[in-house]
Amino acid sequence: MSNTAQAQLGAVLAAGGPELGELLERTEERLARVAEGHGERLAHHAGGTLAAGGKRLRPMLLFLCASELDERLVAAGVAVELLHMATLVHDDVLDAAELRRGRATVFAEGGRGAAAATGDLLFSRAFAELAATESEEAVRALSAASSALARGELMQRADAWDGEVTPERYLERCRLKTASLFEASCRLGALFGGRPELADRLGSFGERLGVAFQMLDDVLDVSGPPERTGKPRGADLLDGTVTLPLILARERDPSLAVPVRCAEEAAAVCDRIAATGALEDARERALGYVGEAKRALDGVALSDQRARALQLVADGVVERYA
Ligand code: IPE
Ligand code: IPE
Ligand code: MG
Ligand code: MG
Repeated sequence: MSNTAQAQLGAVLAAGGPELGELLERTEERLARVAEGHGERLAHHAGGTLAAGGKRLRPMLLFLCASELDERLVAAGVAVELLHMATLVHDDVLDAAELRRGRATVFAEGGRGAAAATGDLLFSRAFAELAATESEEAVRALSAASSALARGELMQRADAWDGEVTPERYLERCRLKTASLFEASCRLGALFGGRPELADRLGSFGERLGVAFQMLDDVLDVSGPPERTGKPRGADLLDGTVTLPLILARERDPSLAVPVRCAEEAAAVCDRIAATGALEDARERALGYVGEAKRALDGVALSDQRARALQLVADGVVERYA
């Protein structure tokens, strides 16, 4: 973890109180055991993915949306992180990605079959964990996020190499692919944390933040640097994924509508996108969503400590590199 990320995490943990650290620790312990008992290959690939780190942002949001401690929070936190990881392992197949969290993806290391099976295992474990809560509403919320995610991923594939993708369509993809799970995480926190009446408001905070998160991820794909993001620069360009920086840059420089075939070309196109000012514009629009997320918290009766910690997470999304 970088120094900035560590400082951000430290600030959130301090604001979230001792129970936040404890919930995260217990989540980590449960995650470490998830890959056991399903054979050596799955233990290797799923265990490696879990151990490779990651920000654990979705469980953190879930815990911060709770105001009372409840045993079911940990099960729900483990479930959203597992669902997230399942989608990343499958996403790396769809995007033919080689690097994730600074190490080889399951797809690169074990091939398509291993990645499909590893993602499937993580999906199934996510719902098994959530079943421990015996809440139909929770299972429905996670299932809705999972279905939206699948739709978003396929929509993105359908848009590959398409020069006509509009900003509106791109934003819809962000909502489906990323914001749906952020929203579900916040909803589950409200549901199990003694605040079911706040599920809509907190869900809407998560949804807005999730859109911003994906938009900024797409900016980072162009800006890098890879040493900080743990992913190569221009990966989206190389696999044909049309994101907001490219859409906005093409409006300013139509000659950018060329297919990118190799890493060198991708780096050059990243520089040309940056030169149009599209990155600042995309970032500005993402900040608008962060502002909307924060406004969704206005008037929500959270403890000052919880509200402060959620604001810090929102700021961390803006400042992040990885
Ligand atoms: C990566 O999510 C996928 C996107 C939605 C952009 P994260 O950046 O939260 O991934 P990890 O878990 O920290 O690696
Ligand atoms: C996010 O999309 C992946 C999911 C929401 C499953 P990306 O393809 O942009 O994520 P990275 O860049 O691979 O982490
Ligand atoms: Mg990807
Ligand atoms: Mg990306």
